Amino acid sequence: MCGIIGILGSHEVSPQLVEALKRLEYRGYDSAGVATVDASGRLDRRRAVGKLVNLSDRLVHDPLPGHSGIGHTRWATHGAATEANAHPHRFGRVAVVHNGIIENFRDLRAELESLGIQPQSQTDTETVALWTGYHLDQGMTPLEAARATLARLEGAFALAFLFEGEPDLLIAARKGSPLAVGHGTGEMFLGSDAVALAPFTDRITYLEDGDHAVLTRAGVQIWDAAGRQTHRATARIDVGATAIDRGGYRHFMAKEIAEQPAVIGNVLNHYLKGDRIVLPEGLDFAAIDRIVLVGCGTAHLAGHVAKYWFEQLAGLPCDIDVASEFRYREPPLSDRSLFVAISQSGETADTLAALHYARDKVARSVGLVNVGTSAIARDADLALPTLAGIEVSVASSKAFTCQLAVLAVLALEAARARCRIDDAALAAHLRDLRAVPALIAQALALSDECRVQADWLAQARDVLYLGRGALYPVALEGALKLKELSYIHAEGYASGELKHGPIALIDGDVPVVVLAPHDALFDKTISNMQEVMARHGRVLLISDAAGIAAAGDGVTASLALPQGGGIFQPMLYAVPMQYLAYHTAVAKGTDVDQPRNLAKSVTVE
Ligand code: AGP
Repeated sequence: MCGIIGILGSHEVSPQLVEALKRLEYRGYDSAGVATVDASGRLDRRRAVGKLVNLSDRLVHDPLPGHSGIGHTRWATHGAATEANAHPHRFGRVAVVHNGIIENFRDLRAELESLGIQPQSQTDTETVALWTGYHLDQGMTPLEAARATLARLEGAFALAFLFEGEPDLLIAARKGSPLAVGHGTGEMFLGSDAVALAPFTDRITYLEDGDHAVLTRAGVQIWDAAGRQTHRATARIDVGATAIDRGGYRHFMAKEIAEQPAVIGNVLNHYLKGDRIVLPEGLDFAAIDRIVLVGCGTAHLAGHVAKYWFEQLAGLPCDIDVASEFRYREPPLSDRSLFVAISQSGETADTLAALHYARDKVARSVGLVNVGTSAIARDADLALPTLAGIEVSVASSKAFTCQLAVLAVLALEAARARCRIDDAALAAHLRDLRAVPALIAQALALSDECRVQADWLAQARDVLYLGRGALYPVALEGALKLKELSYIHAEGYASGELKHGPIALIDGDVPVVVLAPHDALFDKTISNMQEVMARHGRVLLISDAAGIAAAGDGVTASLALPQGGGIFQPMLYAVPMQYLAYHTAVAKGTDVDQPRNLAKSVTVE
């Protein structure tokens, strides 16, 4: 994680660095810092612990002149969130910002210590600055010094180097972590993503794995992993699509929840034309015998929901795994498998590594991503956009339901191509799917009732979520949302699994949220709910009007979702999961959009 920025500008650069860092704060907010080189060539830095606003305040009282600079927003990996551990790290004539992990930093550090150079921080990154500074002191040029250091590094990194006495020079390098070069007029930029650069330029060159680059105001020179000078294409990005504002809502999350009917509608309009499913060339579900879905966190849970759809609708065996496990367990894959990496950011390190593991072993690899310019979008054989628009809040909401919408379309296409459903059945499922945006619009009206229930949940130490079938992963998602937003311990269970252990947790103090649409599995789930209530468990039942009527008395509270959506109901049930977590977080006064310890884009293992 961590966000990095570099600017060779024509104005005072500190405010621009801070503006760009604001757009990168989703990558981490443990500390922030900037370094600049002024007109006389003097290199200096300012750093502050905590959110970016602390750095901005610092710069007001202690400004940093210069037209060239680098900046960083940190998600701590090695060393606590202290000023000493904040980037930029400096040694002598060089300052460095870094995203990633230098895995051999202990060896590099020990060697430095034997040379009499003492690190001042606990970070892996500082070794990069120390070695580069050391090489400069040995008489190397900045490029030679950076290259000599890069040759020693193991692990993943996006790096930017700024040098004393060099107001027209930035050196950049990437291995594993993304890095984009922005082209201005007489100005050059560097950033972890194009969104950070959007206020300055719409012309972007993505560095590829192993590249390093020299930026001056005249342009960029790039060398590939083998050290050959190379050319990377420059593309124009849609700057409008990177606009970030709360649109009158108190939190980005509230806005993003409310956007779901519109954005899911966009997804369906994109992939459906009448009764026709429109997908890019090269997705032949008749030619595969297995689909493998991989992601992390909420993206993984979207895949988990879709597993039910692929298996039930299309009779297609479906494996689902978290990327961090998938990539190391060396799963056998065949050339009749379709691999799908699911990721909002498209930059999640584990998901990207899982894609790299799988892509040469399978028939086709697909990146199901929200950020179209991301590494997963670029590295997969095929990118399918989830079209949720920018999601700022660290907790995923609309990205999840848009992932589900695309996966629903894929499952229907698989069922059609494998002749598991006829035209009439396909049309009926498409009707159910097309009804989802309007049903979610109705479900948004539950916000106030969720706020009432949140007052109750906010008092709890633990909360359990139960669901069956495709609602089981939605229960997991509900628990994940509550944990990350309100810091209340929560777990999701398959309803039928409760009696195999977790039922021991039930007492009058543990709220149990039960997801039970009035469908074929309803009676089974309600029996499990009765088992909870028989042990004095207090139940919040989420169902539809028919389900709530059929469930009878005894629940502490219930929330009624509209009926409809067929097998795509999980998309609907996601909404109260989001609102319960959101309002509980508001009731507890936690930081809704930037919960503690988290980052939106997890670019380290
Ligand atoms: C969701 O609320 C989480 N913040 C997190 O689990 C997230 O879904 C996960 O880190 C995966 O991110 P990605 O979709 O960008 O790959």
